[in-house]
Amino acid sequence: MINVAILGYGTVGAGVYRVLNMNRETIARRTGEEIYVKYVLDLREFPGDPTQEVLTHDYNDILSDPEVKIVVETMGGLRPAYMFTKQALEAGKSVCTSNKELVAEHGLELRDVAKANNVNYLFEASCGGGIPIIHALDNALTADEIDAMTGILNGTTNYILTQMAVENEDFAEALKGAQKNGYAELHPEADIEGWDACRKIAILSSLAYGKYISYKNVYTEGITNIDTLDIAYAKALGLKIKLLAASKRTESGTWAMVAPRLVDKSNMLYHVEGVLNAVYVHGNALGDCILYGSGAGSLPTASAVAGDVISAARNHGRPLPSDWSDEVLELLPIDEVRNTFFVRFSGSEEEAEAAFSTIDAVRIPEAEGEFGFFTAELSEKEFREMADKSGKVIKAIRRA
Ligand code: HSE
Repeated sequence: MINVAILGYGTVGAGVYRVLNMNRETIARRTGEEIYVKYVLDLREFPGDPTQEVLTHDYNDILSDPEVKIVVETMGGLRPAYMFTKQALEAGKSVCTSNKELVAEHGLELRDVAKANNVNYLFEASCGGGIPIIHALDNALTADEIDAMTGILNGTTNYILTQMAVENEDFAEALKGAQKNGYAELHPEADIEGWDACRKIAILSSLAYGKYISYKNVYTEGITNIDTLDIAYAKALGLKIKLLAASKRTESGTWAMVAPRLVDKSNMLYHVEGVLNAVYVHGNALGDCILYGSGAGSLPTASAVAGDVISAARNHGRPLPSDWSDEVLELLPIDEVRNTFFVRFSGSEEEAEAAFSTIDAVRIPEAEGEFGFFTAELSEKEFREMADKSGKVIKAIRRA
């Protein structure tokens, strides 16, 4: 029997407890041993819940118990998760987590600590919820030079954008729905400001390109600025707005960016709706690949964590290889990244053409005193200079 402790009995922690019990027999067969949750750590009490019998408020109970071989960290946040994780690894226990904030901030160090102690630090659930993208990068795609990734990596924002476009909900209403369904972070700014997607693309790009990309260097815009007129323009153009987290290796360097973008039907990400996530990966041998599935929520995320628990149990005392080096990958300055922009403009067509050269105006009945148009492909710097020169740009959304 393998004894496990779960740190944090929130949406994901409770999901892990449920998956390990719900699929007990299958998991035991696949692991070769039964997996038993010996402790659940939480500050709260859960009267009437089965975990009450294994509940502890003292982390030392877990740390000092040599029978606990695997710790599931589903607390979220950096403190005390970082210290608890490090202590568990140093005590010879593998750690499986859904905590993307911690993985993005300290993942490299924690993976090294795990290695030094002959255990594993596994974080499949940190990116794309239940989608097995990290296993894919660490295993099936290891023969490829990966040169581009684009993902819908945040379920909350994709749900909000879908509700706004399909159900005509306003932003606040749609966010409430995401919170009610257990998709959003405790502090939903992390979702709607794009920080969560930013951490995820930094983790995935680091693994894909074999060098370290700090999430702090990834240019990030969220969806708080997206309004119903943007959605109306997108609909009129036959496009959808999606929060895309992307990175690409080009001849001039590698860039990474999170921003809302206009996506057309020919792009498979156009069809990814609601809480679903998808990650497009391009490799030099593979060509195109898309992984698609449930991106957030209790059971899908728990499925990924529980899968890691099985991997940790199967590989006890054997750190699994991964291509995440501490060599830093310097990103191309954002000013040099090239994009096509959809501009909402409050001046005349002549003024728009004076700043941006020839344009093809798009007008919709909902938007008075303005029109839209696409620019040619421009660097971010060129675009900003043209927009400043015109003084009439209401906003701009990049095209995918
Ligand atoms: N808040 C996250 C999301 C949870 O909406 O995608 C899954 O990481």
